[in-house]
Amino acid sequence: MALASYRGNLLHFHADPAFSDAAIAWHEDGLLVVEGGKVKAAGDYATLAGALPPGTPVHDYRGKLIMPGLIDTHVHYPQTDMIASPAPGLLPWLETYTFPTERQFGDHAHGRAVAEFFLDELLRCGTTTAMVYCTVHKESVDAFFEASSARGLRMVAGKVLMDRHCPDFLCDTAEGGVRDSEALINKWHKNGRSLYAITPRFAPTSSDAQLILAGELAAAYPDTFIQTHVSENADECDWVKSLYPQARSYLDVYDRYGLMRERAMYGHCIWLDQADFARMAESGAAAAVCPTSNLFLGSGLFDFAQADAARVALSLATDVGGGTSFSMLQTMNEAYKVARMKGSYLQAARMFYLATAGAARAMGLGGVIGSFAPGAEADFIVLDPQATPLLARRAEHCANLEELLFALALLGDDRAVLATYAAGRMVHERRPA
Ligand code: GUN
Ligand code: ZN
Repeated sequence: MALASYRGNLLHFHADPAFSDAAIAWHEDGLLVVEGGKVKAAGDYATLAGALPPGTPVHDYRGKLIMPGLIDTHVHYPQTDMIASPAPGLLPWLETYTFPTERQFGDHAHGRAVAEFFLDELLRCGTTTAMVYCTVHKESVDAFFEASSARGLRMVAGKVLMDRHCPDFLCDTAEGGVRDSEALINKWHKNGRSLYAITPRFAPTSSDAQLILAGELAAAYPDTFIQTHVSENADECDWVKSLYPQARSYLDVYDRYGLMRERAMYGHCIWLDQADFARMAESGAAAAVCPTSNLFLGSGLFDFAQADAARVALSLATDVGGGTSFSMLQTMNEAYKVARMKGSYLQAARMFYLATAGAARAMGLGGVIGSFAPGAEADFIVLDPQATPLLARRAEHCANLEELLFALALLGDDRAVLATYAAGRMVHERRPA
């Protein structure tokens, strides 16, 4: 792909702003230079423009923010059509809406149609990478990766494993589930930009035998991802305690089966204790914090202070359909309020870090996505601080970058995303209102 460049306010992150004074890279009049779908350079326009070969296109995004594409580390594509379904808590919500909705994904064509809508929605919201749950059906994984690879997206996804405590129509077997997963790994993992995640749904819906085999699969394919849910809801935690009385904690169930390691993403992590957080950090597993879901389902409030004390790798996630928005900006909005309710404070710059370079780091993809380091994949977005009348008015009164990012997080949504690029190619552009 030819050389191209993009001029605007350039923002990316070298480290977590909560722990480093030199975390933020900000170029007021910046230039992003892209070649062959990768970042060639990012810096001041005045420094870089002169070195561009004559005739290199310069896309003019002055007045807009150019930053790495957003990363959603926990989302269920099959739950797109049931977002905003009312139920008094996680377990009734799963029974009433989730399982019947997921039943339809044995049909490849249905899966493909939903995957296309889901990806449109992600790109409209500026999300260029996600860690995605499919359903128990292997067809649902093929449908998803066919759709995401046709668009050239860096996506992580996997077949849900569940062989008990679920309706018959969603039940696999320990051996069958792992056999299907292995075939899908061989078909999709590192096939273009697709990456595979071994995906036991959560401890209650997997037998001992299934978790043993999942752990063995994770050891046999150490560069695959792992994703599951942990300690989301009080009733779920009680259930796990009764199913696994020998485990020290809910998280310890997964640990005993060899499911804690780098590239393992644990959704929710609401009811973990300090020993759990310490074990997360030690193992290299990461947390996907899902505030819109946790508030919607009444699951609880993530404890940023406890997680930070242990230096756990954190990321932000929508958890649609438990989550109520595809927008990572709206996810930041709710994360900020959850932190406040627990007595913590999230800087806006940190929230943008957690949704870009921080998520990439948590996934073991630092320097590959979420960054403008030379050689990183050129997934980036253009945010428009004038996207709505209110945003424009507030932006006029922002005294510094932190205030502007805060306004974008609190007031922004898909309307604030002017354009989304994947591997240097435009994959979404907002239509004029
Ligand atoms: N726990 C097990 N399955 C699910 C799911 O689909 N969504 C959420 N939020 N929690 C879960
Ligand atoms: Zn989930």
